[in-house]
Amino acid sequence: MNRQILLAARPVGFPKDSDFKLVESPMPDPEEGQILVRSIYLSVDPYMRGRMNDVKSYAPPVQIGGVMGGGVVAKVVKSNNPQFKEGDIVEGTFGWQDYAVSSGQGVRKIDPGLAPISTALGVLGMPGLTAYFGLLAITNPQPGETVVVSGAAGAVGALVGQIARIKDCRAIGIAGADDKISYLNDELGFDGAFNYKTVSDYYEKLRELCPKGIDVYFDNVGGAITDAVFRLINTRARISICGQISQYNLEKPEMAPRIILTVLLTRQARAEGFLVFQFADRYPEGLRQMAQWLKEGKLKYKEDIEHGLENTPRAFMAMLQGRNMGKQLVKVADE
Ligand SMILES: NC(=O)c1ccc[n+]([C@@H]2O[C@H](COP(=O)([O-])OP(=O)(O)OC[C@H]3O[C@@H](n4cnc5c(N)ncnc54)[C@H](OP(=O)(O)O)[C@@H]3O)[C@@H](O)[C@H]2O)c1
Repeated sequence: MNRQILLAARPVGFPKDSDFKLVESPMPDPEEGQILVRSIYLSVDPYMRGRMNDVKSYAPPVQIGGVMGGGVVAKVVKSNNPQFKEGDIVEGTFGWQDYAVSSGQGVRKIDPGLAPISTALGVLGMPGLTAYFGLLAITNPQPGETVVVSGAAGAVGALVGQIARIKDCRAIGIAGADDKISYLNDELGFDGAFNYKTVSDYYEKLRELCPKGIDVYFDNVGGAITDAVFRLINTRARISICGQISQYNLEKPEMAPRIILTVLLTRQARAEGFLVFQFADRYPEGLRQMAQWLKEGKLKYKEDIEHGLENTPRAFMAMLQGRNMGKQLVKVADE
């Protein structure tokens, strides 16, 4: 039998256990041209919260009763597709389930000799590519510039700060726990960081940490943190809008200051939203460079691993609450 986690109900506000349902279903059988894979690591990501809503977006929502989608590192257990053989380790959008069939389209073969295979969902996968292109292609940071990143201890944010350091920038992080701040400052070499859950005046704290203002802002969170950053934006600053996680579980959108005149126009700053997929034709370049920096010890990464398919909703909700340090994964089978 296969086990699957379905969307049982559309969450109102923050998701809860009853929004998900674990079911058993017959084992899928691959047809001609298809592969059968067994999941090893599942990724839980903030974007999945958006897919649970019935709204028009850049990707269709998960249907009620549908399998929760998501990136997975898996092993090919049966292949009717000449491009894959049994035992291959692959990464694809197989969803929250033990087994899946796939045509092989959009499925990437992973070299287990390069790095632990779980990294295909983190530093050498979608979050790594998001950090790489969202920082370098959108903001073109220059040596000596001050780069601020919010959501700084997460899968994307921790890499953004380190890439900023590789580019000889000052990296300042904002995250929601003291151990995350120590990790950024002591282990990842950030030039400064603060805990937005214990600091009350974000603007004053940022002024202290960024005495020359902010040249680049990588925004993962939005909300009041971002409002404070905007007040310190320098002339010709670049703002990369990656995510707005502080807004994902709100039932009503928050009001925000009007920044078009005061920040974008008068300071000639540029804010640009992006989706990592827009760089798909450059993924090989991004993965090559991230793997190189990893090998050279210039990039470090952390993974937070929950165990058991049945605990995937819990891991997802814990990640939304900030209980993860680095990339949140769920291990569902041995390698
Ligand atoms: N544009 C793209 O193509 C793209 C691709 C991937 C990810 N993203 C976005 O990038 C961001 C980071 O994703 P990730 O995968 O790296 O997740 P992550 O940072 O590993 O995990 C999410 C983190 O968000 C923080 N958070 C939760 N609620 C918050 C709030 N109200 N205010 C501030 N921080 C809050 C928590 O850390 P704290 O303890 O610090 O609160 C939590 O650990 C998300 O916004 C995501 O949607 C965008």
